[in-house]
Amino acid sequence: MADLDAAWTRLEAAAKAAGGKRIVEFFEAEPGRLDALTLEVAGLHLDLSKQAWDEAGLEAALDLAHAADVEGARARMFGGEAINTSEGRAVLHTALRAPAGADIKALGQPVMAEVESVRTRMKAFAEAVRSGAIKGATGKPFKAILHIGIGGSDLGPRLLWDALRPVKPTIDLRFVANVDGAEFALTTADMDPEETLVMVVSKTFTTQETMANAGAARAWLAAALGEAGANQHLAAISTALDKTSAFGVPDDRVFGFWDWVGGRYSLWSSVSLSVAVAAGWDAFQGFLDGGAAMDAHFQNAPLEKNAPVLLALAQIFNRNGLDRRARSVVPYAHRLRRLAAFLQQLEMESNGKSVRPDGQPAARGTATVVFGDEGTNVQHAYFQCMHQGTDITPMELIGVARSEEGPAGMHEKLLSNLLAQAEAFMVGRTTEDVVAELKAKGVPDAEIATLAPQRTFAGNRPSTLVLLDRLTPETFGALIALYEHKTFVEGVIWGINSFDQWGVELGKVMANRILPELTDGAAGEHDPSTAALVQRLKR
Ligand code: F6P
Repeated sequence: MADLDAAWTRLEAAAKAAGGKRIVEFFEAEPGRLDALTLEVAGLHLDLSKQAWDEAGLEAALDLAHAADVEGARARMFGGEAINTSEGRAVLHTALRAPAGADIKALGQPVMAEVESVRTRMKAFAEAVRSGAIKGATGKPFKAILHIGIGGSDLGPRLLWDALRPVKPTIDLRFVANVDGAEFALTTADMDPEETLVMVVSKTFTTQETMANAGAARAWLAAALGEAGANQHLAAISTALDKTSAFGVPDDRVFGFWDWVGGRYSLWSSVSLSVAVAAGWDAFQGFLDGGAAMDAHFQNAPLEKNAPVLLALAQIFNRNGLDRRARSVVPYAHRLRRLAAFLQQLEMESNGKSVRPDGQPAARGTATVVFGDEGTNVQHAYFQCMHQGTDITPMELIGVARSEEGPAGMHEKLLSNLLAQAEAFMVGRTTEDVVAELKAKGVPDAEIATLAPQRTFAGNRPSTLVLLDRLTPETFGALIALYEHKTFVEGVIWGINSFDQWGVELGKVMANRILPELTDGAAGEHDPSTAALVQRLKR
């Protein structure tokens, strides 16, 4: 603990010192900077050289990782120990992408035989639906899938589908998440129940939104096919197998997973079966292989050359050393446009904690707000604030080096924007430069005096650039695993449990209390504002 406290103190001092300097000058002072801070991993190129740390800052961050025993925690996670202490569970989403026959145990019990058996069933099911061997109640093959789930049972598969989907899919995969009838109505309006397979995806099989949509979907199927017919159009993905049969899903259409897979880490499991069907098994297997490649790197690379560790340390340097309370993630790739939404759950649900497993308050700030959307679109939306706002928000900019998709010439334009933004964030534009340009244009001095400061860019905004060689199932898998391990490393250094989510409970309990008040009128006890709103909605 004393070592850890001292390491934190050194990190804070190093960040304070580095924060007073300009990133761009670090390149002159540190001839080895680019080599030290660029990595090639599993088809990904990472450049952390535009981050705010100098050599001393990076060293202090690495010391902190050692003092927090990231290596020991990593061994405990891969070793299947109960690192999710508040729920007494192992954390082994890595087993879902491990090769068959790997020796992996959860709390001492081997898991790979079960993992393999579910994977084999998933593959057979995916192929049978795709080939038309599995048909609907009226003998027609399935041409569409309605994937129903929310949170980890939705965000990962949606992103995965965007990343892998063929331009013209043979199976039309659609998603419904919210308990808002509008989403169900809009999504199913032009779907044919006779040709639709409904997949209900819920780890617990109790989530209000998912069960409401599942009930609506079954009624929609039954209206066209009858009750018995409807059941033939259902599949379920869950850890709660008793509840799936109570819902009427035939046993051979139920695909399980395990309590050692957190919802937000579950896209490697049967949770993504809909995508495996619609994109094909080879694509899904490629995704798993990419995740496994990142696991091997995370387990074996020394901390100073370890991509998830460096990404986490950059975040900690910014968040704790420089008090940057938000981070923006911008993929310059339409297929990755939902990445920030996925990371919001991954990072903010995992590390949005203020208490440690021993019940004591966390000593330092934990998860920051993460937000983002696709580039270049965001350049025309919130990037003004990123460049000239009063707060500095560190960025992660993600690109794809090679792509032949779509009309010729566009990809280079996309890439030029990506590189330009990263450079502009760091380098900025000096007032002298602006003044010179305005003078050359003949702008009067009085006008220059007011215009130049407005056109100046302070720069010195840190960013990390992640470049995928190509967007393939493998590189996409590596990217997602990179972020999972980054999140884990941050949790270890912050000393919190990244694998529970008690913070989502209170709202669920209170919604269940309010629901009957809106429907049958029994008044409950509320604060004055909520009581007035309940009354208003009742009217
Ligand atoms: O409310 C949060 C949460 O529990 C997430 O952690 C989870 O991914 C989501 O709800 C959905 O849960 P389930 O898969 O059990 O329906």
